[in-house]
Amino acid sequence: MSEDPGQYSEVSAAPMPGDGDFDAGLRPRSLADFIGQPKVCEQLELVLQGAKGRGSTPDHILLSGPPGLGKTSLAMIIASEMGSAIRVTSGPALERAGDLAAMLSNLVEGDVLFIDEIHRIARPAEEMLYLAMEDFRVDVVVGKGPGATSIPLDVAPFTLVGATTRSGSLTGPLRDRFGFTAHMEFYETDELVRVLRRSAGILGIAMRPDAATEIARRSRGTPRIANRLLRRVRDYAEVRGDGKVTVAVARAALAVYDVDDLGFDRLDRAVLGALIRGFGGGPVGVSTLAVAVGEEPATVEEVCEPFLVRAGMIARTPRGRLATAAAWHHLGLTPPAGAMNATFAVRARDGGTGTLFDDL
Ligand SMILES: Nc1ncnc2c1ncn2[C@@H]1O[C@H](COP(=O)(O)OP(=O)(O)O)[C@@H](O)[C@H]1O
Ligand SMILES: [Mg+2]
Repeated sequence: MSEDPGQYSEVSAAPMPGDGDFDAGLRPRSLADFIGQPKVCEQLELVLQGAKGRGSTPDHILLSGPPGLGKTSLAMIIASEMGSAIRVTSGPALERAGDLAAMLSNLVEGDVLFIDEIHRIARPAEEMLYLAMEDFRVDVVVGKGPGATSIPLDVAPFTLVGATTRSGSLTGPLRDRFGFTAHMEFYETDELVRVLRRSAGILGIAMRPDAATEIARRSRGTPRIANRLLRRVRDYAEVRGDGKVTVAVARAALAVYDVDDLGFDRLDRAVLGALIRGFGGGPVGVSTLAVAVGEEPATVEEVCEPFLVRAGMIARTPRGRLATAAAWHHLGLTPPAGAMNATFAVRARDGGTGTLFDDL
């Protein structure tokens, strides 16, 4: 992605400049503090308690899901629940195996090593990681050509926590070495209401319950977006009103920021528009769609599409992406006879068939 600030919109799930301090202050600190994702939290609690009871380090954990759903927060929570230190790096930062070797050899027993965007790790580092995850050992190659020797080094037992927005592009061997994978889902409106109440409490914002529901509904199922919209609504309430966040204030503020009724942002609407107006509703491949809206295919696929599928606007089919009748209606158009209805599209997603056709 480019650094052009113009690409950011208030409902982008990716972190934006200025989110840093704000996000950090609102990050849940413990599993008890973590709202929603009941399944993931229960499973994680068992993994962590089990390891604690045995006095061992927990299995390696993979956190998978769209941006802004709480993967980084959970990684930090895992470390703090275990009373361990966390070392943070990311796939793109581990370009050479040596970078990873340096991190691994500095680990202390029980440490959590967090690798964000682990699907972007370079191949040599990934291969080194296999051995480290399995045997707590690395082979460091010294020298070049026929004279090169490999020196085995021990690594302190650690827990790797990997986060990814596309678990589909992890290699099989890497995926297999995680003992537990948490699949993060988009949040329900009532869960986002709780996120917003908690944040409003921390920030000292007076917010009416119906205003919280209004903001939650338009947050694309994503806590990071909910918190960002809250910040925008607070500005509006302070500048144009008396500081109190009512439903009228929330609606007026969200209109200023171009967040539509379903929380779709500019890119979501562009993708729907291209799919329907440019390709008659599809089916069309995701890279073709990305070109049509002038975005990276990865952004369309990882940020935009999961929510549009979840909202029942598009369906992934073997022949490409297809607009549902609801999508035509959302753009104020009449769907052609035989357009897929949203319930079917959502069921197709839940059937898990979508991932088979990632490359279409
Ligand atoms: N379950 C949650 N409860 C409360 N706030 C959350 C939760 N998940 C995420 N957040 C908020 O969203 C922000 C972004 O979460 P983060 O963990 O950075 O997401 P990810 O790493 O998946 O992109 C956090 O700083 C926090 O403010
Ligand atoms: Mg993150």
